[in-house]
Amino acid sequence: MGKLLFLSRKEVESLLKLNEVINVVEEGFLFLHRGEALAYPVVREFLGKYEGIFGIKSGFVKNRDYLGFKAGGYWENNPQLGIPAHQSLIVLYEPKTGVPQAVMDGNFITIIRTGAVGAIASKYLARKNSKIATIMGCGTQGRIQLTALRTYFNLSDVRCYDANREYSTAYAKEMSASDSSVRSFSQPENAVRGTDILVTTTPSMRPIILDQWVSKGTHINAIGADTKGKQEIDPKLYQRSKVVVDDLKQCSELGETQHNLDFVRSHGIHAQLGEIVSREKSGRENDDEITLFDATGLAFQDLVTAGLALTLAKEKKMGTWVEL
Ligand SMILES: NC(=O)c1ccc[n+]([C@@H]2O[C@H](COP(=O)([O-])OP(=O)(O)OC[C@H]3O[C@@H](n4cnc5c(N)ncnc54)[C@H](O)[C@@H]3O)[C@@H](O)[C@H]2O)c1
Repeated sequence: MGKLLFLSRKEVESLLKLNEVINVVEEGFLFLHRGEALAYPVVREFLGKYEGIFGIKSGFVKNRDYLGFKAGGYWENNPQLGIPAHQSLIVLYEPKTGVPQAVMDGNFITIIRTGAVGAIASKYLARKNSKIATIMGCGTQGRIQLTALRTYFNLSDVRCYDANREYSTAYAKEMSASDSSVRSFSQPENAVRGTDILVTTTPSMRPIILDQWVSKGTHINAIGADTKGKQEIDPKLYQRSKVVVDDLKQCSELGETQHNLDFVRSHGIHAQLGEIVSREKSGRENDDEITLFDATGLAFQDLVTAGLALTLAKEKKMGTWVEL
C-alpha cells in the first residue's frame, strides 16, 4: 500500500513564492517548446446548470517526472456566496508505476501560475519602460496579475475597471501602494486609453475592449477567455496586434483566438510563448507595435507548480500523509 501527501490550500499558499513560480513556469515553456511537456486533451464544458464550467487538464512533464491532472472549474455565482469562483484539486502520480503521490488544493496553484505567465509574457512583450497598467476585472486574477506585473515593472499609475463598481473601488484601495497608486474608473474606455499594459481578467462572453481605445505600443495580456464562447477582445484589435499564444491549438478552441480563426488561418500568429522564451522568435521589436498574449492556461503550468509545492513540502515536512 502506498501513501500520498495531502496539501491544503493554506499549506500550498505558504510554500509557493511568486518569484519561484515565475521561474518554474518560464522553464516549463522551454520544456513545452522542446516537446518535453506533454498535454493530453482538455475537458472544459459548461454544466448548463448553476452557471458552472467543469474541466480537466492533464499532462506529463517528462524530464521532471510530473504526471497528473487538475480537475475543477469556474462557478460564476460563487463570489456572491462568499466562495471563490474557481474550485479545483490537483493529483500527481509516480510516472513509473502510476501510484498516486499527492493530492493538493488547485485553487491557489491556478491563481499563482496564471499570475506567473502574465509576468513572463509582459517581460518579453511589453515596453521595458512601461509605467501605466490597466486591470479590467477586479477579482482574483485582477489581483495576482497586478502583483506579478509589479515584479518586473515600476508602475506609477494603475487603473482598474470592473462591471461592479464596488469591486473596483475595493480593489483600488487594497492594491494601492505608496509608489504605485490604483485608481478605479467608471468608464472602461477611460481606463484603457493611453495605458502601457492592459490586462483583461473577466469571464466575459463578448468583447469588453474596443479596438479604437488601444494605442500603439500597448501590450495586452488576455487572460479571461479560457473556455469556448468566452471573449474580451474586439477581433479588430486582435487582428492588428502581434499575437502570441500560450498554445495555438488550445487558444484556437478556448482563447481569444477561437474568435479569429479565419484570420489566423490566412495570416498566422507571431509565436507561441515557448518560441520566444527559447529565443527562437523575437518578443517585442519596436515601441509602436501592439502585442497581445492569449492565455488559456496549460497543464504543464499546473504540474510544474504542483511539483514545486510537493518538493518544498517534503523538504519542510509539511502536509498530511494519507494511506491509500
Ligand atoms: N488563462 C488562464 O490561465 C486563466 C486562469 C485563471 C482564470 N482565468 C479566467 O479569468 C477570468 C477571471 O477569473 P477570476 O478568478 O479573476 O474571476 P473572479 O470572479 O474572481 O473575477 C472576475 C471579475 O470580473 C468582473 N466582471 C465580470 N464581467 C465583467 C465585464 N463584462 N466587464 C468588467 N468586469 C467584469 C467581475 O465582477 C469580477 O470582479 C475567468 O474567465 C477565468 O476562467 C483564466
